Amino acid sequence: MIITVGGIKGGSGKTTVATNLAIYISQRGGDVLLVDADDQETATDFTAWREETKMGEVGYTAVKLTGDQVRTQVAKLKSKYQYVVIDTGGRDTTSQRAALFISDIYLLPFNPRSFDVWTVGKVEKLIMEIRAVRPAELLAFSFINRADARGSDNNDAAELLAQSEVMEYLEMPLGNRKAFSHAAAKGLGVTELLPVDEKAVNELTSLFNKVLSHTNALI
Ligand SMILES: Nc1ncnc2c1ncn2[C@@H]1O[C@H](COP(=O)(O)OP(=O)(O)OP(=O)(O)O)[C@@H](O)[C@H]1O
Ligand SMILES: [Mg+2]
Repeated sequence: MIITVGGIKGGSGKTTVATNLAIYISQRGGDVLLVDADDQETATDFTAWREETKMGEVGYTAVKLTGDQVRTQVAKLKSKYQYVVIDTGGRDTTSQRAALFISDIYLLPFNPRSFDVWTVGKVEKLIMEIRAVRPAELLAFSFINRADARGSDNNDAAELLAQSEVMEYLEMPLGNRKAFSHAAAKGLGVTELLPVDEKAVNELTSLFNKVLSHTNALI
């Protein structure tokens, strides 16, 4: 089962979601490969830091791949893992297209801001282009990340995302919460952070359980 976290907007929370998802799957006993397909290498840097802070007990395997290697190498590696989570850069690159070509699920965080939701049309076009050239189904799920505590921006963004006939909108927003940066600073996932931020953990696990329910879940 291959899940790509992507989109064509920088800073939407792709690496945060991809690393937390890999950690969550491993906490549930799943065997997971985290692929860093972004040349910024943030997921790789995070994993290196996690190796230090967790004394090597990272919980998942991590590799860095670029360009068409994302497709060719993951195709070779996927049978060794129950789950592959691919973190992509925030642009329409060869790496992101290569990831989508072999993925089962495309997970797309959107911040509830105009510049982010303005990319919806381009993302839809990308998904349709990929779907046209691959035999198997590619599920695409959007959700709001860094939702505001108040105000109308969340609803405006949700309305726009829900209109899409190309991506399914999951009404399971992740709030804008300090737990995400606090956990990352310690090389941890939000589901490992102490003291527990219950709201952040509940939001994250609801979203992940929903996404994983679309897989023939082994965990
Ligand atoms: N739900 C959240 N609440 C608070 N902060 C968040 C949340 N999600 C992400 N962030 C923060 O937003 C910033 C950008 O997140 P992240 O690096 O995951 O985005 P990205 O989409 O991977 O960026 P890039 O396009 O550069 O790869 C980080 O500082 C991260 O800690
Ligand atoms: Mg990133």
